[in-house]
Amino acid sequence: MGCGSATPQKIIINDQLGQRVDTNDEWIQSRTGIGERRIIGESESLVDLATDAALNAVKMANWDVNTIDLIILATSTPEDLFGSAPKIQSNLEASGAVAFDLTAACSGFLFALVTASQYLASGSMKRAVVIGADQLSKWVDWDDRTTCVLFGDGAGAVAIETTGAQNDLIGYDLKTDGKRGGCLNLSQSNVFLDLVEEAKYQKGEFLPIKMEGKEVYKFAVKEVPIILGKLLDKYQIDSESIDWLLLHQANQRILDAVASRFSIPSRKVLSNLKHYGNTSAATIPLMLDEAVRDQRIKSGDLIACSGFGAGLSWGAALFYWHGPY
Ligand code: UT7
Repeated sequence: MGCGSATPQKIIINDQLGQRVDTNDEWIQSRTGIGERRIIGESESLVDLATDAALNAVKMANWDVNTIDLIILATSTPEDLFGSAPKIQSNLEASGAVAFDLTAACSGFLFALVTASQYLASGSMKRAVVIGADQLSKWVDWDDRTTCVLFGDGAGAVAIETTGAQNDLIGYDLKTDGKRGGCLNLSQSNVFLDLVEEAKYQKGEFLPIKMEGKEVYKFAVKEVPIILGKLLDKYQIDSESIDWLLLHQANQRILDAVASRFSIPSRKVLSNLKHYGNTSAATIPLMLDEAVRDQRIKSGDLIACSGFGAGLSWGAALFYWHGPY
């Protein structure tokens, strides 16, 4: 029924990163399609961005905040490990909504969308706000050129409800392969400090993001076409009927490779990597919001969506967009 997004003010262009690590605009653009990214600054916060994104989605849907039953925040970078969704519920003044975080890295938004849809499909809830928001800038090793050029911060959200009419979520599939999880991690450190003479305690802290880029790339270009292809077959949808391919924005080459497997022309492939880089759980709703607001996506359009990333985790969903415009 609505979508929204919010991004930080501070823009860092590729050449600025060249001041810090041995990289350049030509390498980053040609290997990833990324031109710039936005980074949360001192006067901003992840919760504020997520709140703004959610509020924009609720406004587009024209909902009274008191009618929201559920808020799911997909994030791997909460401000509070006990959960940041309750703070967003409070900011929205949505006191009737239950709110919790869900972590599935770059697949997080898709996993959260499907999770929320189960509450709606069961009839136990009617209205949900699903947010994808991440601040990977605080966990990137800014001296590691193989990862630091890729990520940015942002937030996006959708407002979904049951109408009793046609189900706009045609189908979905979600996957996890924990055995391959070592390719992409933001792991806790293994530091134990003395507590008392007889015992140590583990200090709570995390190590920067570590990624085997090539492995993750190969995983994405193999698994995304498989999961999407199976979904299209299951619901007997021809790839020509897809109005928009909406993939997790990790690398333009991944978007192009998946599109070419289904012979989807580039005009139907949504991409805003150039401006935001990889904002993890935020990429899909951020992209959706941009394309809805500039009226590329129209009510009734069929969207083929896929998210993929750490876990390893991946998923796909086919849905119709039915917003107010
Ligand atoms: O959201 C989670 C999902 N994540 C992803 O989907 C990421 C998937 N992986 C990728 O997008 C790509 O693998 C990368 C963009 C991360 C890397 O692209 P690549 O074409 O696989 O490059 P590479 O790692 O093979 O590196 C090629 C060369 C290397 O130099 P040598 O060994 O050939 O001399 C790297 O050291 O490029 C070098 N390199 C860089 N050079 C300039 C790596 N990073 C940089 C850099 N600037 N930032």
